[in-house]
Formats: sequence, structure tokens, C-alpha cells
Amino acid sequence: MCGIFAYLNYCVPRTRKEIFETLVKGLQRLEYRGYDSAGIAVDGDKNTMTDDINNNIVLIKKKGKVKALNEELYKKDCMDLEAELDTHFGMAHTRWATHGEPSALNSHPHRSDKNNEFVVIHNGIITNYKELKKYLNSKGYEFESETDTEVIPKLIKYVYDNREREDLSFSTLVERVIQQLEGAFALMFKSRYFPGEAVATRRGSPLLIGVRSKDELPTEHIPIQYNTAMFKEGVKEKNSHNRSDNSTAVNSVGDSKAVEYYFASDASAIIEHTNKVIYLEDDDIAAVVGGKLSLHRLNRLAGEDPVRAIQTLQMELQEIMKGNFEAFMQKEIFEQPESVFNTMRGRICFDTNKVILGGLKDHLKEIKRCRRLIMIGCGTSFHAAVATRQILEELTELPVMVELASDFLDRNTPVFRDDVCFYISQSGETADTLMALRYCKEKGALTVGITNTVGSSISRDTDCGVHINAGPEIGVASTKAYTSQFAALIMFGLMMSEDRISLQARRLEIINGLRILPELIKKVLTLDKKIKSIADELYEQKSLLVMGRGFNYATCLEGALKIKEITYMHSEGILAGELKHGPLALIDKHMPVIMIMMRDACYTKCQNALQQVTARSGRPIILCCQDDPEVSKNAYKTIELPQTVDCLQGILSVIPLQLLSFHLAVLRGYDVDCPRNLAKSVTVE
Ligand code: F6R
Repeated sequence: MCGIFAYLNYCVPRTRKEIFETLVKGLQRLEYRGYDSAGIAVDGDKNTMTDDINNNIVLIKKKGKVKALNEELYKKDCMDLEAELDTHFGMAHTRWATHGEPSALNSHPHRSDKNNEFVVIHNGIITNYKELKKYLNSKGYEFESETDTEVIPKLIKYVYDNREREDLSFSTLVERVIQQLEGAFALMFKSRYFPGEAVATRRGSPLLIGVRSKDELPTEHIPIQYNTAMFKEGVKEKNSHNRSDNSTAVNSVGDSKAVEYYFASDASAIIEHTNKVIYLEDDDIAAVVGGKLSLHRLNRLAGEDPVRAIQTLQMELQEIMKGNFEAFMQKEIFEQPESVFNTMRGRICFDTNKVILGGLKDHLKEIKRCRRLIMIGCGTSFHAAVATRQILEELTELPVMVELASDFLDRNTPVFRDDVCFYISQSGETADTLMALRYCKEKGALTVGITNTVGSSISRDTDCGVHINAGPEIGVASTKAYTSQFAALIMFGLMMSEDRISLQARRLEIINGLRILPELIKKVLTLDKKIKSIADELYEQKSLLVMGRGFNYATCLEGALKIKEITYMHSEGILAGELKHGPLALIDKHMPVIMIMMRDACYTKCQNALQQVTARSGRPIILCCQDDPEVSKNAYKTIELPQTVDCLQGILSVIPLQLLSFHLAVLRGYDVDCPRNLAKSVTVE
């Protein structure tokens, strides 16, 4: 929720126009995180100064998407766009409203006062903002927005105004501020009292810093110590983006020569500038002074400055570009043959039928001894747990609970030391899932992350895990992350069952199925035209039911979620076995129904549901296996899919529904990648 991007050029001359372009492009890369309003803070021209303080700060904020902000920037004719700024620090923010409606006033940066002495951008939520606001109000500080964030610039000004004769550095001021904050935040600070300086900090929300220097990094100023054991790695894998493989430990970077810093909520906004990044950890405070970046810990004891890794990003720029596709979501749907392949790459040996997940192998014995597995996630990630629960129970011979993170917390679910808890999350930052992780850690359970985002909070805070390697997912509606989470969880089941003689035939069947899965996904994608023609018929409908059972029930939930989130149509995933217990009342000749009837153990039961639908004049569109005459004669339309092993079928059956939701949204005229009211990374509870 909300994207932070900031750019500091030190002794690297850039025109103001270039700076605007860098800030706007950074925001565009992060727009999927929030897009109801956006804003920037930059230095104004010296000749527009209104008082005796050098470096007045200009805020430009606009309701709407980054495009609207971009247009606004060039309307500011008081700013000289060609002015060359040798050293400059600019900050930018794209918002997803939590406190206060989307408006220019509520958008970031927020400021301390009318002179913009301190300005702040924030991702996260401040839970004690009411108390702070009350206190600051009582001290005469006036608020202009309805946001929680605004207490932060006011608070730093308060600390500054009351510093007495102390000569406080910018980072010390920030440290004093975050001591008072409760909740989650990634924050960037800019101040007219500290020109050319930047301070960044985080707790619970992600923030990383890209470093671009003419000198090869690390320079002689950088290495303090190289010791990978110092870095807590949530997701440690040979085949994933392993931090220990290509990282250098630092606690300060840069010398007095030219250097540029990029601060962002995620790597996609940084990769086009540099692949050298530092991920901040909770309560780190990073400050750039005189071109030099140094890191401190909140409340540090003397000599306790942190050492963090400079990592080399493995991401390619083209991974975050739309290419020839109309939308990121469409691109990501079509990437699934490769993304699922990448999830398996180097982990399944098809010659020996061995599966090795590097990030779990050291914990396998412990996992095998556990009393149950608890799979926790939200939205699509939760559906990946639902999709694989049955096969995990079969392969691990353990009870498997699947839990929506928010409900799991609401219930104060009992968790024990001998439980193993999985946290499934594309972003690795979802607040509910993170809270559930903290809750289970306190109870002493072993925690396992299944994430797509290297360096994310979940990948760092779990004991071990699997990086799904699906590549950056930018469309707000999750698609390729789902199929990769699905494949990763299946591989976990295969790894757990390797020494079970009774399960070898089943394992072999699944491994063979996985081997040809990318090819089968390609075949499903060739159905795109047919699915578009079905969308042409359905796009004016108000509602759409999706029905199935067994291994394909999760597809119904996930398909319905995709439809509602990007087409704004009502859609429901219905367990076919529940039809007669209520939903059947919805069926008539007008209600569009999609049924999933694959040739598996539930086939006959699904036929019963089909009869119940057709007997009420329903006209079902049926997702079925190729050449199924039984289904064809009862269907209004069929979408024929290649058949695979029952427990993998859900990876294929979800794709037509992803495509259908995409086409429906386009036909209804909606922005597929930025559905209303939603954001990619839900970092609020
Ligand atoms: C739906 C969707 C959401 C996310 C959910 C969890 O398309 O994207 O339902 O799946 O917000 O997000 P992650 O997986 O990042 O924890």
C-alpha cells in the first residue's frame, strides 16, 4: 500500500527536468502499490526564496494516478526546468488511502508547517497517531490533512523546535521521532535545514536503497566485515536469489565523490538505475550526509552500528516492462509456462525423481516430526493453500490446516511448538500474514515462508522457506504467483514423501506431470480467443457463479476473486457439493454459471451438480477435459483443457478464468492493472 521513491544525486549534475523524470518513472514502477493520489517534494529555485533559510522545498501533489501528477509538474512555471542541480534530494509517493479520502491534501509528502521545514513520505500505518495528534495540537501545531502520517513531520518539527542548545543531526531527529511511533512504517525525510541530506527508516514496511557510483562498489570506504552469518536469511536457497552469494557487508557507503542513491519500496523502481541495493531492516536508520550513506540502529548502544549487505539484484529490466501486452496482468498470465518452469528449475531432478528445496532441506527432519502443518495467507495466496491442501495431506500424512491470516489472528488460534506454520505471500509484506507470523513465532512454532519477493519481511523473518521465483508480479490481480505458489507447495509435498515406499507411484505420477506442465500451460493459453468470445457474451452480466469441487474447488474461489476484483461483477466460487444447500436457489436461465468438471475422483459428483443446474434451465459453461461427450451434451459451451494429474489440474483450470476476467475487465472498460480501491501490497491490517 503506497509506494515510496526518492532520489539523491550527490555531485552528479542533473537538470530539474531530469530529476522530475527520475521521480515520476520511479513512481510509475510502484504505482501498482497504490494509485489514488501522488506527490513529490523537491528543492525550489533559490530566487523564489521567501525567507532567510536557503533551500525552500516545493511540494506538488495531485489526486489521481501518477500521470496526473506528471502533467501537474510541468505546469509549475515558477520552476526552472533546465536549472542544473549538482546535489539534490527529491522524494515521491503514490498513495492508497487508509486515513482520509484520496485528495491532494491527504496525499504525501506531508509537511511540518507552511514553510515546509520538514517533509515526509510514508508507507504503512501509524496506530498511535490520535494520541500524538492530540499532544501536538495541545502544543499549537495545526494539522491540514486527515491522515495518520501528518503527525510525523509535525513531530520532527516539535523535536527540532525544542532541541534547546543541542546540535542534533538529521538522523538523530528522526531517531527521536520513531521512538514515539507505533504501527508500521517506511519513511523518508527531507528538510530545508539539512539540504542535500536524506534520512530513511523502516519498521514493518519495506524499504531498500540502490547505490550508483562511478567507482565499482564496494569502494575502499565500504567493507567493514564480510560475514554472511550476520544476515538473517528467511529464504535461503541455492537456486533462488540468495543474498549470501553476491553480497557485501557494509555500514557506510560512498565517499566524497559523485554518487547517486535511489530509495524505494521495492526493487522494480531501482533496477533500471543500479543493481546494487541494500535492504533496510526494522529500526534501521539510513542517512546520507555529504554524499555518504551511513546506517544506524534505533536506540543503539555504542559500537553497535548495523552491518547490512550490498546485494546484487538478479532482476532484469524487461521483467518489469509490459512489452507488447495490453496490461501487466495479461503479460503475467502469458508468462506462466516460464514462471512455473522457473519455480521448478534446479529443484526437481527428473532423472532421479528427487526434489530438493534448498531453503528447507536443513529443516526437513524437524518438519517431518511436527504434529500438523498450518498454511496461512490472504486472498490468492490463501487459495494456493486451499488448492494444495489435499495433496499435502496425502503426501505428508500430516493434518493440514488452511487459514486466512486475519481470521487466524481473530480466533487466537492455538499454536504449539511442534506445529510448522507456512506463510504464503507473493509480496512477502502483507500485514495480516506478517502479524500471523509474529504470533506463531511467539508460540515457538517453526515458520516457513513461501514468497516471491527476495528481501521481503516474510522471507527474512521466517526460519526457512522457498522463493517461488515467478519474477516480479506487477498487475494487482495475482496470476503467475498463484500457479508458482501452487507448484512450490506440491514440490514441498514431494520432498516430504521421498522416503515413503507406499507413496512412490504417486510421487512418480506427479513428478512426470510437473515435467510436462509448462507445455500444457502453453496449450491452455492457446484457448485465449475462445475465452475472449465467451467474455463477449458475458461482459454485460451482473453476476457470475463458478462451481466445482475436490482438487478444483480452489480454482472456483480464485476465479471468482479474479472476476470480482478487476471486473467489479459479483462472482462467487461455490463448492459443488454445497449447491443443494442454498446456492441452487440462484440458478435460472439468466444466471451465468461456469462449472469445472475434470476427469478425477469428483467427476460423478460433479455430474450430479450439472444435472441440478440444467434441470433449472441453467446454461453452464463447462471447463472439462478434451473430448468428453458426457459433458458436451449437457453444456451450453465447453472450454476443453488438457488433462494432467488430478492434483496439478488446478494449475491448468485456473488459467481460463484468469483470461476470462482479463477480457471481461477490458470489455467493461476498466483499468485491468489498477482496479479501484485495491493495491498490490496490503501492508495494513
Ligand atoms: C488477488 C490478490 C490478493 C493477494 C493478497 C495477498 O488477486 O492479489 O488477494 O493475493 O492481498 O497478497 P500477498 O500474496 O502479497 O500476501
